[in-house]
Amino acid sequence: MADRAGYDMVELHAAHGYLISSFISPLSNQRTDDYGGSLANRMRYPLEVSRAMRAAWPAERPMSVRISATDWVGEAGVTPQEAVDIARMFREAGADIIDVSAGQTSTEARPVYGRMFQTPLSDRIRNEAGLATMAVGNITDFDQVNSILMAGRADLVCLARPHLADPYWTLHAAVALGDEATEWPKPYLRGRDQARRLRDRAQEALRA
Ligand SMILES: Cc1cc2nc3c(=O)[nH]c(=O)nc-3n(C[C@H](O)[C@H](O)[C@H](O)COP(=O)(O)O)c2cc1C
Repeated sequence: MADRAGYDMVELHAAHGYLISSFISPLSNQRTDDYGGSLANRMRYPLEVSRAMRAAWPAERPMSVRISATDWVGEAGVTPQEAVDIARMFREAGADIIDVSAGQTSTEARPVYGRMFQTPLSDRIRNEAGLATMAVGNITDFDQVNSILMAGRADLVCLARPHLADPYWTLHAAVALGDEATEWPKPYLRGRDQARRLRDRAQEALRA
């Protein structure tokens, strides 16, 4: 359906306690058959779904998998170390990129929030497993985005809430960074020109 609708990319949601996630986490997966217990068993159904998605999705278009890279409950749940193996397994089952989120899998979770709080998890998966990753979570300004990319901590950065507060976050970032290539919708061009003038004036004032 996503293919027919013309989407450029599709993501398997394997995080946040949804169906696939509930198989991966040992906290929610209490099964005693071939689909529970060891990591290989807990990953059996998620990998079946991943392979089926890959088979249905055009080979030339990217497929991502979103994971909870920690359950935030210590050794009893998914740990950042185990998440490296989980990411590798999804890569082998067709994922081009891993969208690294965390938690929302257990009421016992003790998450540690803060600026860019999930980025270390992306960093670890990207650099230990050699996989492409997306970083997400409390990343709010473009300096943070650029430092994550330049430091090789992720291949893509996703922002959610900043876009709720400012749907034109990306256009504003492009102006601030002096990026002339970003396309603006035609009816907005005078807004773009004004934003650029204001930027230039602010920079001149700083120099004066
Ligand atoms: C209103 C709202 C709804 C969300 N719904 C989902 C969702 O359905 N599935 C999901 O994976 N993440 C969901 N998220 C989480 C975001 O995808 C993102 O991971 C999270 O907000 C952290 O990024 P941020 O700090 O840039 O907002 C939601 C976030 C918000 C604020």
